[in-house]
Amino acid sequence: MRRSVLLGTGSALPAKCVTNAELAERVDTTDEWIVERTGIRQRYIAGEGETTASLATEAARKACEAAGVEPCDIDLIVLATATPDHTFPATATQVQKRLGCRGGIAFDVHAVCTGFLYAMGVADSMLKNGLGSRALVIGAETFSRILDWEDRTTCVLFGDGAGAVVLEAREGEQERGVIASKLHADGEHKELLYVDGGPSSTGTVGKLRMKGREVFRHAVVNLAEVLGEVLEEAGVAVEQIDWVVPHQANARILDATARKLGLPAEKVVVTVDRHANTSAASVPLALDTAIRDGRIKQGDLVMLEAMGGGFTWGASLLKL
Ligand SMILES: CC(C)(COP(=O)(O)OP(=O)(O)OC[C@H]1O[C@@H](n2cnc3c(N)ncnc32)[C@H](O)[C@@H]1OP(=O)(O)O)[C@@H](O)C(=O)NCCC(=O)NCCS
Repeated sequence: MRRSVLLGTGSALPAKCVTNAELAERVDTTDEWIVERTGIRQRYIAGEGETTASLATEAARKACEAAGVEPCDIDLIVLATATPDHTFPATATQVQKRLGCRGGIAFDVHAVCTGFLYAMGVADSMLKNGLGSRALVIGAETFSRILDWEDRTTCVLFGDGAGAVVLEAREGEQERGVIASKLHADGEHKELLYVDGGPSSTGTVGKLRMKGREVFRHAVVNLAEVLGEVLEEAGVAVEQIDWVVPHQANARILDATARKLGLPAEKVVVTVDRHANTSAASVPLALDTAIRDGRIKQGDLVMLEAMGGGFTWGASLLKL
C-alpha cells in the first residue's frame, strides 16, 4: 500500500499588515463590527513586487527546509490559487522555476477557498499511482487584487498569503499519511460568491462579489456533512481527532461547525484573527502556524476542511 506522508510545512505572508482600525480610515466600517461578526483583527496585503508566485515560492522553500528535502528532489508541484500571476502559464511552473527545479510535473488547481483540499486530493492520487515521488502542495493567493475596496461587505474579510506542504509517497506505510478525503462541488450557487470578470467573458480580471449571509448558511451545513463523510470512510470517531484545521473564513463559521459536530473548541486551529480569509492559502497557513508553535505534533490525527466559491467543499484526514 502506498501512502502520501506529510514531511514538512511552510508559509509566507506579505510584509504589510493592515489592522481593522487602518481599514476603517478607508471604508465605512469599525474594528468592533469586523471583530464581532468575523473574528478578524488584521490581514496582510501584498505590496509592489509581492505576487502569488513570490509568496508561494517562499512558503515552498520553507516547507522543503522543514521536510529536509532539496527543491530538486520535488517531482510534482500542485498549486491551488484563484489569483494567479498570469492567466497562463500556471503559477506552479513559475514557482518551479524560482525553486530552481526543472522537468517535473507542475500545474495549478482552481477551487477557490477549497483549492488546497483539491490540490491535496490530486497530489495524493498522483503519488499513490506512481506519477511522482515527492510533491509540493501549495495554496497561495493575493485576493487583495480582486477586491472591490469600495465594498465594505467584502473588502474587510480577505487577506493575502501562502502555505505549502511536502508530501512523500511511501510504500508499505500503514500509520502516517493521508487516510481519507472527500471533495464536492455544486455549481448551482455561483451567484452567491464569484468574480464578475474573466478572460473569456469580460476580458477583464473582475472583482469579488458575495452574498455573505447565504454563503454562511451553506458553509455550516456542507462542512458538517463532509466531515461526517470522511470520519465514516476512515472509521474514525470524532473524539479521536487531535486537531481540526479549517478554512479560516469567519470565526463564527468555525464555532458553528465545531458545535454541530460535537468538537471541543480547543481542538480547532484558529488563525482568522491574524490572517483573515486567505482563500486557498488559509488551510496550509493555519497548519504551518500550529505545527511551528508546537500545537500539532508528529503522530497527531488532523482533519483539514474547507468551503468556497463554486460552491466547492471538502475535507481530508491525515496522520502526521
Ligand atoms: C459577511 C459576514 C461577516 C456578514 O455578517 P452578517 O452578520 O451576515 O451581516 P449582514 O451581511 O447581514 O449585514 C448586517 C449589517 O452590517 C452591515 N455591514 C456589512 N459589512 C459591514 C462592515 N464591514 N462594517 C460595518 N457594517 C457592515 C450591512 O450593511 C448590514 O447593515 P443593514 O442591516 O443596515 O443592512 C457573514 O455573513 C459571513 O462571514 N459570511 C460568510 C462569508 C464567507 O465565509 N465567505 C467566504 C467563504 S469561502
